[in-house]
Amino acid sequence: MKMNMIILAIETSCDETAAAIVEFEKNKVGILSNIVSSQVKTHSKYGGVVPALASRMHLKNMTPVLKRAFQRAKINKNKIDYVAVTKGPGLIPALIVGVSAAKALSYALNKPLVAVNHLEGHIYANWLTPIVPYSNSLPREKEASSLFRKRGGGDFVNLWKPEFPILCLIVSGGHTQLILMKKDLNYKIIGETVDDAAGEAFDKVAKLLGLGYPGGLIIERMAKKGNPDKIKLPRPMIKSDDFNFSFSGLKTAVLYEIRKFYPVLAEGSDGFSRRDGRRLKPLNRPLKRRRIDDTFRQNLAASFQQAVIDVLKYKTIKAAQKYKVKNILLGGGVATNKELQRQLKEMISKEIPHSKYRILNTKLTTDNALMIAVAAYYNIINNKNIKSWKNVKANANLTI
Ligand code: KG4
Ligand code: ZN
Repeated sequence: MKMNMIILAIETSCDETAAAIVEFEKNKVGILSNIVSSQVKTHSKYGGVVPALASRMHLKNMTPVLKRAFQRAKINKNKIDYVAVTKGPGLIPALIVGVSAAKALSYALNKPLVAVNHLEGHIYANWLTPIVPYSNSLPREKEASSLFRKRGGGDFVNLWKPEFPILCLIVSGGHTQLILMKKDLNYKIIGETVDDAAGEAFDKVAKLLGLGYPGGLIIERMAKKGNPDKIKLPRPMIKSDDFNFSFSGLKTAVLYEIRKFYPVLAEGSDGFSRRDGRRLKPLNRPLKRRRIDDTFRQNLAASFQQAVIDVLKYKTIKAAQKYKVKNILLGGGVATNKELQRQLKEMISKEIPHSKYRILNTKLTTDNALMIAVAAYYNIINNKNIKSWKNVKANANLTI
């Protein structure tokens, strides 16, 4: 099997239009370009992603993003060996734009099309950075730039060669799963959320607090100034006998706390769904006019964030102990959260010193096409999911 190749990858599963051109040489990687065009500003006024709007924006941005990816990579289009695309899971109106573009490119370039699972991308983003204990990791900027192949140079970095089993905690806007990997491309879901995803809870709580969208980063910032012990919130399912999660009750508990102090403000602001988009309407009054006291907001943000972190880290540690894993890794937008990373690392070094905690570059936690290229590479060298453009279809509910 040929191990040297250039992959063009496309990702449009939610609200980021992304393309990357990535070169692989045996177990090394050189990033020629990695372009992400975010739609966050457009969707923020609706308090969540509106699927039809995302689709239109992908359509508008897809070709300019591809053009930029080729310009940055400075390569001729016929140098591409494989086209890769996110097949699912995600919003179907968003996915079909990327899949359609990838099929057209695969046909025009006469190259195979690799259909990638989005969650596999979030997992394989971790193969991009060297394994280092968290405390010894390079400053973020340095780590990030070292991943990029210098113009004209042969700057490749080694791909991670992990010891299995690996435990992956995937925490994004659509998923919260604990996945056990015994070898490459081998996944067993050992636990998942029974209702909302962790990122979804962050987004909904941010909306309740009048903080805008996307909520995760804003809550994290607010939480830094708050006291996580000030407001008592539940730790749903923390003592349950499985590795499942639940976050919808936690969001309701936050709503009740707001109602206690601000009975009018929180009326009617719960119950929307970010993923199906059914109840997303432009807000009829600017959120910033909802005057919630800043200290209360900071304390509630910190208490909520801590409740989520407690459940995530407790269950992750329990699973890591049961399955005697060698590595623990994070993936998905919520993995950007520094406090989650810090506390998880601390608990792992205390409770399970035989496991290594893999710190993921925060530039690679949210959606991008680079991670899709890496996942595609492992699919290709294992002879999996290499297709003709005729046989690839988007699948909103694709499981890992
Ligand atoms: O992986 P991602 O970019 O898209 C999906 O596949 O869903 O994740 C987006 C999610 C959003 O719900 C966002 O609020 C959350 O990740 N997020 C965060 C942070 N940054 C993004 N959650 C907590 N803390 C953060 N710093
Ligand atoms: Zn994602």
